[in-house]
Amino acid sequence: MTRVLFVCLGNICRSPTAEAIFRDKVEKAGLAEDFEIDSAGTIGEHSGNPADSRMREHAARRGYDLSSISRKIHPADFHRYDLILAMDRENLVDLRDICPPEHRAKIRLMMGYAPQLGVEIVPDPYYGGSQGFERVLDLLELACEGLLRELTP
Ligand code: 4NP
Repeated sequence: MTRVLFVCLGNICRSPTAEAIFRDKVEKAGLAEDFEIDSAGTIGEHSGNPADSRMREHAARRGYDLSSISRKIHPADFHRYDLILAMDRENLVDLRDICPPEHRAKIRLMMGYAPQLGVEIVPDPYYGGSQGFERVLDLLELACEGLLRELTP
């Protein structure tokens, strides 16, 4: 069993999308039993809310159902998950700040799984237009592909 947690700031745009895309790829590969997949935010501002409606709409056009409900990262997550994948550098720094030292190596940048793109972060789409949401989907589809490749024998 491999446990993967995707993390962004609000847990309403990028990390729920990563969660849905990765779950889709894992299910299509017939590996649903081998993974636990979830997402969280570094802030609790949107806790209890569904994903951003713009993000949900763009994701639905590609066949992804963003059904997750926003939650803030919890200290126990650092023990439970094997990989904690940050969408940008701010997320990475915030996670490292609160992570017990013995679990710090679990925290990585998500785009590290698509090194062919030469892109370091998944940009925050919250205050922008529809292009930003499409960009999130493009980047995360490739990074999720790389992640699954790395995690399967
Ligand atoms: P996310 O996007 O981190 O990808 O979920 C954001 C969501 C909310 C805010 C910023 C980014 N906000 O400022 O409330």
